[in-house]
Amino acid sequence: MRFDILTLFPAMFQGPLTESILKRAQQAGRIEFHLHDIRQWTTDRHRTADDTPYGGGAGMVMKAEPLAAAIRAVRATDDRPGVTILLTPDGELLTQQIVRELATLPRLLLVCGHYEGIDERVRETLIDRELSIGDYVLTGGELAAMVVVDAVARLVPGVIDSESIVEESHSDFLLEYPHYTRPAVWEGRAVPSVLLSGHHGEIARWRRAERLRRTLARRPDLLVRAAAAGVLSKADLTLLAELGWRPEASGSA
Ligand code: ADE
Repeated sequence: MRFDILTLFPAMFQGPLTESILKRAQQAGRIEFHLHDIRQWTTDRHRTADDTPYGGGAGMVMKAEPLAAAIRAVRATDDRPGVTILLTPDGELLTQQIVRELATLPRLLLVCGHYEGIDERVRETLIDRELSIGDYVLTGGELAAMVVVDAVARLVPGVIDSESIVEESHSDFLLEYPHYTRPAVWEGRAVPSVLLSGHHGEIARWRRAERLRRTLARRPDLLVRAAAAGVLSKADLTLLAELGWRPEASGSA
């Protein structure tokens, strides 16, 4: 999978793309990153990428011409045109479902907005999708783009062990069960004995119950979605009822 990142600050990506899993995935040829400095497509002596907003008001707006030229030029560097995504706090909220969808694409162009935003006409003509990583405001789209890259890249086949994806939080609306490793007793606290029993059926049941318990305690809104998606078994629903779950009190999805 190919990621093209269009930004005014390409150096911000140095750390995240050159360490750990993303580094190994690039070396293995599973994913490739291409960083593009939008300023390269400015045409004036001062390399101006932003300007004051029409109508007045605070902040600066990213100019249409360099940004549009950058998007068009980057698209043309590969036969696969890709999907162009703008990172912006007023975009659609990123979820694991969207991440899974993006991971099936051969190419993504991530446009990092800055200042107060980008000229609306570029959004209308060249942006396919707008994503926000949460209801808070960052100084720019760069950190958000890194979040998207990280979440999507790990789902690309061969990037991480596929078994760890199956049971993880959000893959089926339930949070993860608790994890333990050696020693069996740490500072007087023992690992739940069922995990040492070697009884796979009981371990699986315990883990499922812990996922349900934890989701009910922390994110009851997810249980409503899990029920609607049909991923809760009869045994799940019985246990949840014992734990006092009342779907109508859990808030909507
Ligand atoms: N740019 C600034 N804040 C952002 C957010 N929350 N998500 C995506 N892009 C952003």
